[in-house]
Amino acid sequence: ARRIWLTRHGQSEYNLKSRIGGNSPLAPAGEVYARCLSDMLIDRVPQDGDQRVPVSVWTSTLCRTIQTARYLPFFKLRWKALDEIQAGTCDGLTYDEIAQLFPEEFAARQKDKLRYRYPAGESYLDVIQRLEPVIIEMEREKESIVVVGHQAVLRAVLGYFMAKPLESIPTLDVPLHTLLELRPRPDGTMDFEYIHMS
Ligand code: G3H
Repeated sequence: ARRIWLTRHGQSEYNLKSRIGGNSPLAPAGEVYARCLSDMLIDRVPQDGDQRVPVSVWTSTLCRTIQTARYLPFFKLRWKALDEIQAGTCDGLTYDEIAQLFPEEFAARQKDKLRYRYPAGESYLDVIQRLEPVIIEMEREKESIVVVGHQAVLRAVLGYFMAKPLESIPTLDVPLHTLLELRPRPDGTMDFEYIHMS
């Protein structure tokens, strides 16, 4: 009874200031989520007879996912391919600042969020492409996996498992402080359950 759990990192200092990108640590509420995540997951690891099914935790290389995973008592792996979408010259800005400083860029992204590539950064299509090896490993893996990721990256992962049209991926809802449980069905499709922080 293998599970795949997906979660964004806990609220970060940049989330609090509405800044994108960067590599900020968790804010106090994010730290609370990190502890809560560990409790929620330990309760949910399926039993196989009297044995708990092994679990590994995959994070990005950014400190907010590593901090969110730090209380999980499982083997951990860091994937560069799970890092958040690169915002290039817009990294560290708020959306208001981007609209003021680079109005053409802001408008171009609103027009085509899937294909828009930040100057010196990435598009959603770029992210979807670089996630391919991670998704192949997720499908191949026999153990249960906890993926602690980022909004754009998890939109792409979720879009793949939910077989969503590409165009819908950049606006899929992946809320903070919510754990998403995926349970593979025998026919290869998945059941999904959203678990909110208790
Ligand atoms: O840049 C970081 C955000 O998590 C991505 O959100 O693609 O909706 O701007 P966005």
